[in-house]
Amino acid sequence: MFLSRDDEAALKGEHGAGVQTAMDLLVTVGEAFDAPKMIPVTRAHAASSGQEGDLFFVELLAKGNARCRIPTTTNPVANLEYFQNIMDKRQKDYVEESSIAWKVKEYYREIGAIMSQSCIPYLAENIPQYGEHVAFSESSATPYVNSVLGALTNRESIQTALAAGIIGETPEFGLHFRENRKGTVLVKVKTQLRNGYDYSILGQYVGKKVENGIPVFDGISKRPAIDQYINLCAMMNVTGAIPLFYVPGFTVDGATVDEAFGGNRPEDVFDVTDREMKQTVEELQTTNADIDLVQLGCPHYNLDQLGVVAGLLEGKKLRPNVSFWINTSATTKVMAERAGYVQILEDAGAHVVTDTCIDIVAYNFLRGKTGMTDSPKCAYYRRFKNVRVATVEECVAAAVEKE
Ligand code: F3S
Repeated sequence: MFLSRDDEAALKGEHGAGVQTAMDLLVTVGEAFDAPKMIPVTRAHAASSGQEGDLFFVELLAKGNARCRIPTTTNPVANLEYFQNIMDKRQKDYVEESSIAWKVKEYYREIGAIMSQSCIPYLAENIPQYGEHVAFSESSATPYVNSVLGALTNRESIQTALAAGIIGETPEFGLHFRENRKGTVLVKVKTQLRNGYDYSILGQYVGKKVENGIPVFDGISKRPAIDQYINLCAMMNVTGAIPLFYVPGFTVDGATVDEAFGGNRPEDVFDVTDREMKQTVEELQTTNADIDLVQLGCPHYNLDQLGVVAGLLEGKKLRPNVSFWINTSATTKVMAERAGYVQILEDAGAHVVTDTCIDIVAYNFLRGKTGMTDSPKCAYYRRFKNVRVATVEECVAAAVEKE
């Protein structure tokens, strides 16, 4: 692998131990994938998580005096200040989790990462342009920036994205080459996609079926809304590993099915009909029992979605035994406050939490509850004992007091 003089110097430790660690990781990955050289990247998103592996790597970088060279946003960890105000601090797992989450956030701040703490940074805090080479980790972020925005990124880990943020480069392989971005599987959509929930179910099914590839969706006749794209992206990477997809006529590249395949023949072709959608929905349900928990915002809700829930809850009260949580970004929450949505949601009894992932130990005080969510990803990561996955309208209807 060709390395510039500056790359060599970084690898030898001439720019400090933290930079050396980051460069060593990128070169090792590059060699594993036969990358010919490093290329500049202009933005990164690290799917920071507040887990031990994350702490280990970011601490190594911080203590080695590494600093981000390019805008590098971060995923949600836990809004510990919010949780401190509402829960028993003596709770053992909360205290344990706090010590890791506080430290992770401190180290990210120290290395100069942007504390966006959102899993949808591509909507506000870190928006790549068409043709920009970037390094984005996070299940919805990688396919969204590749497919909807037309940037070029591989499916990164937290650590490789963070290392790219420190160095400002990534090894050139995979989706950084246009010839590797052609569709591989043709998905014939023969069902009506009415809302974000239907796109979640489609993503859940297609990720499982394709596993690892680039699907081309034929048969979608209406431009997907932003939340619909986000759900499709996220769920395909819960059940599969899908870094890029095409909806001919709507995603920035692949204006037609033929163009999306770029002269290649599909390796596989399959239909998605009402039958596959219904079967996928059924597989996600583990209970019909009455619920005492609703979790929304996985991925983080955007402003439109908060507006929808506010509309559904306006003037209503949640049942006292139902805990109702919506995760969103700090940026979105400010806008939602200005729109009056947060007041409506809180008046009804809901929590609107920023900077927080549903997959954190701080949420363990909700363990054992019978949950309802609009997100198959949330159902998977929260490991609910019993769960119902349904539309946001159904989640709200099950949670409010009957009139
Ligand atoms: Fe976001 Fe965490 Fe869900 S990062 S997508 S809230 S699992």
